[in-house]
Amino acid sequence: MARTLKPDRTKRRKPADQRGERTPVRGKNAGDAEWDRAARWYDALVGAQGSDYQQSLILPGALRLLEPEKSFRLLDLACGQGVFCRYLAGRGYRVEGLDISSALVASAKKRSPASIAFHVADAADPQALKGKAFDGIACLLAVQNMERLLPVFQNVKRWLKPGRRFVLIMTHPCFRIPRQSHWGYDEDKKTQFRRVDLYASETEIPILTPPKKGARGFTTTYHRPLQSYFNALAEAGLAVDCLEEWASEKTSEPGKRAKAENRARREFPLFLALRAVRLPDKQ
Ligand SMILES: C[S@@+](CC[C@H](N)C(=O)[O-])C[C@H]1O[C@@H](n2cnc3c(N)ncnc32)[C@H](O)[C@@H]1O
Repeated sequence: MARTLKPDRTKRRKPADQRGERTPVRGKNAGDAEWDRAARWYDALVGAQGSDYQQSLILPGALRLLEPEKSFRLLDLACGQGVFCRYLAGRGYRVEGLDISSALVASAKKRSPASIAFHVADAADPQALKGKAFDGIACLLAVQNMERLLPVFQNVKRWLKPGRRFVLIMTHPCFRIPRQSHWGYDEDKKTQFRRVDLYASETEIPILTPPKKGARGFTTTYHRPLQSYFNALAEAGLAVDCLEEWASEKTSEPGKRAKAENRARREFPLFLALRAVRLPDKQ
């Protein structure tokens, strides 16, 4: 029987600094099995060139923040079925992709030119991509699917050449928290507002995948407040030099609430983009 996931299945987690980071082992992260099960749905959703949001905001925004030179060697971390790899390769960049899901990497290989190398690995595994060095790394819409931040950012530091950039794009953790944030409408003020029921607690949230009633699978979103990202980046030796907040460009059909809805979409950004620079090693 189909399983309905109720909001009370969300699990509070201790903040990262109070949680012993476990040694990551490939295959022990539930993420690979979850995303293998979700792979066919996700591949169809994204297609060859990306969803509307990827095409209009995320892919061009990530490339602009990376600002790569043509000679740069780039890594798409948690590449999924390879949409950003193809976007970069199509513009003449050298890029490799890494993802924990072998099913998504198989789709990536099928959809992409053979010149792009794809790797199946846990982004938190200290053995992953041993000996490789990159001039830029991007992680798009995936950090909130990763159970541990610090070992992932430590790997990013290890893979990045000094002074090079890491671009991290996620759904905005202040306003867009699955099951814990909602739209509401204030009739007196004729204003659409955003209600946020939880922000500061690190929380594990199962999401039906595909996101519709009757779906059997789920993937896990790990909600974290901003300080968790900044603290883990700093601890890994990555310094944030740019933060952008990207609003949805969609507009409502004409109607009584259209103006309020359009205003609210602009006021509560959908995506957060962070760029961090690899600091030199401490002497
Ligand atoms: C929402 S998809 C985004 C995929 C791709 N970046 C995109 O923009 O289409 C999240 C991805 O994170 C990957 N992922 C989750 N945990 C991971 C981990 N620990 N290491 C590597 N990839 C991981 C999943 O397999 C999945 O491909």
